[in-house]
Amino acid sequence: MQVVQLSQYGDEDVLEVVERPVPQPVAGRVRVQVTARAVNPVDLGTRAGALAGLVPDLTFPAVLGWDFAGTLLDDAPVAAGVTAPDAAAGTLAAGTRVAGFVPWFGEAAGNGSYADVVVVDPAWVAPVPDGVTDAEATVVGVNGLTGAHAVDLLARLVGNLDGATVLVTGASGAVGAAAVREAVGRGARVLAVGSTGDDAYVAGLGAEVVPRTDAAGIAKAARAVVPDGVDAAFNAGLASHELLDAVRDGGGFVSATGAYVPEPARGVAVDGVYVQPDAVRLAALLRGAAAGIVPARVAEELPLADAADAHRRLAKGGLRGKLVLVS
Ligand SMILES: NC(=O)c1ccc[n+]([C@@H]2O[C@H](COP(=O)([O-])OP(=O)(O)OC[C@H]3O[C@@H](n4cnc5c(N)ncnc54)[C@H](OP(=O)(O)O)[C@@H]3O)[C@@H](O)[C@H]2O)c1
Repeated sequence: MQVVQLSQYGDEDVLEVVERPVPQPVAGRVRVQVTARAVNPVDLGTRAGALAGLVPDLTFPAVLGWDFAGTLLDDAPVAAGVTAPDAAAGTLAAGTRVAGFVPWFGEAAGNGSYADVVVVDPAWVAPVPDGVTDAEATVVGVNGLTGAHAVDLLARLVGNLDGATVLVTGASGAVGAAAVREAVGRGARVLAVGSTGDDAYVAGLGAEVVPRTDAAGIAKAARAVVPDGVDAAFNAGLASHELLDAVRDGGGFVSATGAYVPEPARGVAVDGVYVQPDAVRLAALLRGAAAGIVPARVAEELPLADAADAHRRLAKGGLRGKLVLVS
């Protein structure tokens, strides 16, 4: 099988396309023939070594990649709570289309989805319904779950979000867009900051668009709409601690990036989201994608062997949706 591996940290040129034997079945695990994997910002940071501290015991050569979508090569026990048409016997049969993500900063470190076959815990796997392509499913995976988990966290910090005001940055991206939809679905009034020139997409998610400026400008613009401050904010873009100024006294603030979890102030509760595999929630999100509710924006599909090119393009910016490596 083909894999994209790196033998050292570095620029895009460290990504090597090599052949490896297909993994044998492993007790308690299932193999997935991967056909699509989203390229995520974390892959670039990992490759460059910027996140090396999160995987101090990583052994090289290592295969990158969190998200996967494809077809089960082995029968898989259905994760508790997952419902699927073919799962009547408690099993997702080999051949079922599935998606999920490997926790790369945990036990899957170095054994990611930039490979034709990935070996995973069946508890990480959710069935992909008709109407969702493999490329779309892999966009929903880690990013949809992060957006949903972030909104769960906001709800825990400030209580019921029904009728609450919520600010989301990075709304053109996969995590932010998912969070906007989740918050809108819970009855929140959502203000959102997307990419410049992408207002129609952000508005289409059900949000009121706040212009993209710096964090202080975003906070000011949000206060112009909600003078007392929004009840809760989620930073899924690359904003800064000043975004906290958008939040009312005693509100809630969640960040997708550890570097942007500010010090609590004015009674605002702050936290960072850290996504965990959640097959039940992912299955629901994928059903939402099939229904057109959960965003799954694909910029372009590229061959797996073009991973280095995909990394260069993501680093350059300006994408609308995820680059997805297919095989
Ligand atoms: N904590 C976790 O568990 C977890 C899980 C998944 C992802 N993440 C993180 O979540 C973030 C978003 O991931 P993603 O996959 O959604 O990335 P993405 O698809 O690349 O989107 C990121 C978005 O943020 C926007 N952005 C950048 N700077 C911004 C700013 N100053 N204000 C508002 N928006 C800004 C970008 O817009 P432009 O392209 O116009 O700059 C882009 O639309 C990343 O930092 C990622 O590493 C965290």
